Amino acid sequence: MSINIKTTEEIEKMRTAGRLAAEVLAFLAPHVKSGITTEELDSLAHEYITGVQQATPAPLNYHGFPKSICTSVNHQVCHGIPSAKKLKNGDIINIDITVIKDGYHGDTSKMFFVGEPSIRARRVVRIAHECLMKGVEMVRPGVRLGDIGYAIQQHAERNGCSIVREYCGHGIGRGFHEEPQVLHYGTPGTGIPLKAGMTFTIEPMVNAGRREVRLLADGWTVVTKDHSLSAQWEHTVLVTEDGVEILTQLAGKQD
Ligand code: MF3
Ligand code: CO
Ligand code: CO
Repeated sequence: MSINIKTTEEIEKMRTAGRLAAEVLAFLAPHVKSGITTEELDSLAHEYITGVQQATPAPLNYHGFPKSICTSVNHQVCHGIPSAKKLKNGDIINIDITVIKDGYHGDTSKMFFVGEPSIRARRVVRIAHECLMKGVEMVRPGVRLGDIGYAIQQHAERNGCSIVREYCGHGIGRGFHEEPQVLHYGTPGTGIPLKAGMTFTIEPMVNAGRREVRLLADGWTVVTKDHSLSAQWEHTVLVTEDGVEILTQLAGKQD
């Protein structure tokens, strides 16, 4: 039980895996429209990852997950299974991509708007993104995990939203989910201090209503108990000597 510090060679592979995961989201973006099914998005992603990228979609068969990507719509929090249901105007959807390239994982997710979602929907999506970036901006050697969790939780709660507690970010590398667990809530000055060479994800799930969640009978899909909207964004990051490098952000992009 310990946290892997990546070597220079491993970091280069993590950069590649991270970039590929981000490129899948960029490839899918123009397809995320009213009328497409999440199953169709899954096949597009599967073909792109296995064909163009010569990589592996990590979710497929992971603990029995049946598809290559996760698609979580509206009050679905995470781990939504792509299905024959069509996206419709006003939906918000999280698409979560994890690829394995040359033995290493890149994990990233973002929210998409279908047509024109409500002001409330757009607000929770924006706040969730701000939560992610506030967490990312804290990352540098010596900062503790509790400091990061606290910054994320504060931003969500100050804005009348809540943070899901049951799922968290994670170390990542050869393993999909490595140590440490990266909680999106916490107490400043607690938790392990970061060291250069660590790679992990930050992936806050932010609910517009109460934080409690429920697992659907499919064994995967997590939804808000009160049916309020939920939003999540995820990056894989590297702790550098003097700060952070976002491994899943494409050159010139802000999100
Ligand atoms: N990509 C998710 C994460 O961020 C994990 C999905 S596991 C799956 O950790 F089995 F649901 F695909
Ligand atoms: Co993750
Ligand atoms: Co993910």
